[in-house]
This record gives sequence, structure tokens and C-alpha cells, in this order.
Amino acid sequence: MPELTPESSLALDRYLTDTLIGSDPALDQAVADQAAAGLPAIEVAPLNGKLLSLLARIAGARRVLEIGTLGGYSTIWLARAVGATGAVVTIEAEPAHAAVARRNLERAGVADRVEILQGIAADLLPALAGGDPFDFVFIDADKESNTVYLDWAARLGRPGTVVVIDNIGRSGAVAEADSTSAQVQGVRRGLEMLASDARFDATALQTLDRKGWDGIAVALVTDPAL
Ligand code: SAH
Ligand code: DHB
Ligand code: MG
Repeated sequence: MPELTPESSLALDRYLTDTLIGSDPALDQAVADQAAAGLPAIEVAPLNGKLLSLLARIAGARRVLEIGTLGGYSTIWLARAVGATGAVVTIEAEPAHAAVARRNLERAGVADRVEILQGIAADLLPALAGGDPFDFVFIDADKESNTVYLDWAARLGRPGTVVVIDNIGRSGAVAEADSTSAQVQGVRRGLEMLASDARFDATALQTLDRKGWDGIAVALVTDPAL
């Protein structure tokens, strides 16, 4: 048996990605263009993008909300999941990121079903109230605001809405109660909210892939009115 090393972990990630995803020109080009535009390489790993897509499909999601677009890599996966008559609303603070995402979504052939809202998510989320509920919410922006985003996920959702939070492991740092990192403390507050807030039932998984050691939380909105 191989030892767990960065190399053996990457080899397994490559094997699983090659076997279950393979080459996907629109996604591969999205990552390349994002890098060429100088955006950080912090998109979800391919296997995780496909997991998001599958979770959204398993949930029967027709309306998806994403907080944190970057270059639209995860957005493409979610847009494919909702199909041609579904809708994705994705929020991005940086105009340059939103511009790269728009081009990537167009090339992937899903721009018609995606609305990119450019601005600070906490400012834009209240205006989404009153529309049809979101069936699936992906939280992947400034970790300090995770509790704010969870609150909106419940308010904009319905019983049965699925919520996924990215980056809940951060190379193990999230286990450090006395961490001085505002991001780690934001992730911890979000996880504590998932545990204590009656509107949610949740778990979390560690992940180890080409993006390193991290994790996702997966939550179900039980009743937004609780
Ligand atoms: N979901 C993307 C990665 C998102 S990276 C993917 O997997 O492909 C996080 C993004 O959140 C960055 O583009 C960053 O600009 C954006 N962001 C950070 N703070 C934000 C805020 N307050 N409101 C909206 N977007 C924000
Ligand atoms: C960071 C943010 C992310 O959403 C991510 O997936 C990885 C890293 C970051 O801010 O460092
Ligand atoms: Mg992330």
C-alpha cells in the first residue's frame, strides 16, 4: 500500500479525475482563461465540481444560488445540473472575476441560464427575497460571512433546500479553536450555526485532492421558519 504523501494523494486525484471526468473542453478552458486573467486558482477541484452538480441533480434543483463566482468554474457545473430550463444566480464582488466568468459561461453554452450579480453578496442577497425559493445553495466566498450566507440560504430556501459550504477544513486549521485567522473563525461560526440552528441538519467531509486538504459541509434546510 502506498503511504499518504502529497504525491500519492495527487496520483489518486488524477486517476479518479481521469476515470470519472476526463477531458472537458469548456471546463478546462475556463480554468486556463481564469489563470491567464490572473485570477487565483481557488476553484473547486473537478471531482468536487461534479459532486456539486450531482448533489444538485439528486436534489432535483431547478433554481441554484451560488455565492462566490470567481471565473465561473463551479458555476458551469451547477448550470449544467439545472438543465436548459433551470436557473443559476451567482454573486461575485470583483468585476474582473465576473467578466471572466461571463466569457467562460458563454463558451460553455450555459450563459442563458445564469445570472451573474456583481457586488457584495450581503448587500445583494436581501433583494432576492420574494422570488421562487432556491433549491440548492453553494457558499464559497469570504469565509468571515458564512453565518450571514447561511441565514440567507435558509430565508431564500424551502424545506428540502440543500446547502453546501466550501473550504470547511483549510488544511486542518479549522480545528484550531484559538486560531487568529478571521477566515478560520468564520468557518467555525458557520459550522457551529449548522449544529445549533434548528433550520439546518448538517454534516461535513474532509477532502484531499489537487487543491490540497480541505472539506465541504452539506446541510439540509429542515424548515426555514424555525
Ligand atoms: N466558486 C468558485 C470559487 C470562488 S472563490 C469556484 O469554485 O470556481 C471566492 C470568490 O468570492 C472570489 O471570486 C471573490 O472575489 C468572491 N468574494 C469574496 N468576497 C465576496 C463578497 N463579500 N461578495 C461576493 N463575492 C465575494
Ligand atoms: C480560498 C477561498 C476559496 O473559496 C477556496 O476554495 C480556496 C481558498 C482563499 O480565500 O484562500
Ligand atoms: Mg472555495
